Amino acid sequence: MRVTRFELNGDAVECAAPAHWTLLELLRYRLQLTGSKQGCDKGDCGACTVLVDGKPVLACLTLAAQAEGRSVTTIEGLMPLHRQAGGTGADPVQEAFDACGALQCGFCQPGMMLSARALLNQNPNPTRPEIQAALSGNLCRCTGYTQILQAVETAIAEAADREAPKAAWQRDREEHGAAPGSPIGTEPATPSTETPA
Ligand code: FES
Ligand code: FES
Repeated sequence: MRVTRFELNGDAVECAAPAHWTLLELLRYRLQLTGSKQGCDKGDCGACTVLVDGKPVLACLTLAAQAEGRSVTTIEGLMPLHRQAGGTGADPVQEAFDACGALQCGFCQPGMMLSARALLNQNPNPTRPEIQAALSGNLCRCTGYTQILQAVETAIAEAADREAPKAAWQRDREEHGAAPGSPIGTEPATPSTETPA
């Protein structure tokens, strides 16, 4: 057993675990923080991404002991830390992923959002290629990535107080006749193509 002392989502923690355990195992199986996902468990998928001293790290490839004295942020800490900093609601990255429908099964989302948060903390106005590069280690098997990139761009626009780009689902509704900004469910009925009997 090895005791690791570190800061976790703003709180000091001290936790004992077998010396060979990874940070991911410590978070999930000792501290019950299951937001960090155990996907490939070998550094390929990014689902286990957490922030260590503000930088994205693959928790499945990091020994728990390497967190000694460091500051670790998991997805569970993103909203509380945002609020402690004076914000309201969830972290703007979380709000933007929600608004853009940038998820399906959600398995990749914690890692994806933490990678995005690390990028925006370091560079508040990244280009599309810089966003793609920052998220390149986070794989999503569901969404096709378009909404994810739009979500990050939405978070950037809102932080800069600019009009956010329209999410794919909004553009799609408007192309099918819905008025801009109208509530979901108010689309005009699609004309029937069936010949009356
Ligand atoms: S679970 Fe760590 S990279 Fe896949
Ligand atoms: S939403 Fe399913 S893996 Fe990304």
